[in-house]
Amino acid sequence: MRNVAVFASGSGSNFQALLDHQACGDLPVSFVLLVGNNSKATAFERARAAGIATLHIAPSHFDDYAEYTNRLMAALEQRSVDVIALAGYMKKLPPELVACYRNRILNIHPALLPAFGGKGMYGAHVHTAVIESGVKLTGVTVHLVDEEYDAGPIVVQEPVRVLDEDTPETLAARVLAAEHATYWRAVKAAAEGTLTVTGRRVSGHV
Ligand code: GRF
Repeated sequence: MRNVAVFASGSGSNFQALLDHQACGDLPVSFVLLVGNNSKATAFERARAAGIATLHIAPSHFDDYAEYTNRLMAALEQRSVDVIALAGYMKKLPPELVACYRNRILNIHPALLPAFGGKGMYGAHVHTAVIESGVKLTGVTVHLVDEEYDAGPIVVQEPVRVLDEDTPETLAARVLAAEHATYWRAVKAAAEGTLTVTGRRVSGHV
């Protein structure tokens, strides 16, 4: 069984969806650690309720960034983490961590990348930009994490229609439901090692 760490900064509804899919047997992995930079995040409560170890850590807790990186990587090593799933994690990962877990870190984004991604494109900003742009399709992207925001190779995408009457809130709710239905499949494939990365192309059934 592969060990998965989840990084979350907020409500953690995607984390919860992963836990639910694990509990019902769809997702045969061990969730060994929840990492978060915000101790008030609901994601921490969800981890505690599921009996999962937590690590509250942020660069601001350390005198220098290298110390932060070392502490974070030591925690992952200690729990023999195979795959990292970012689920609404708002901090950039240390470059050493990205290099060490290359092609084993997933992120979920609430739009069809490479459109509507990058720095500042999170939460309601994404859905507002989607509606204002006039596109008729948005959706969910799960991608591998590299050194840039929302830029790594794409693992899976699911479309969601933009309706004439949509507000950022109504659109966000439909996209989030699609995220919950999608992320566990990508985490499963990454954990099972069935994804093949060739340049920017990721192949394998998700
Ligand atoms: C999701 O929309 C995800 O795509 C983005 O951050 C949001 C996190 O939501 N990266 P939640 O904390 O999982 O509810």
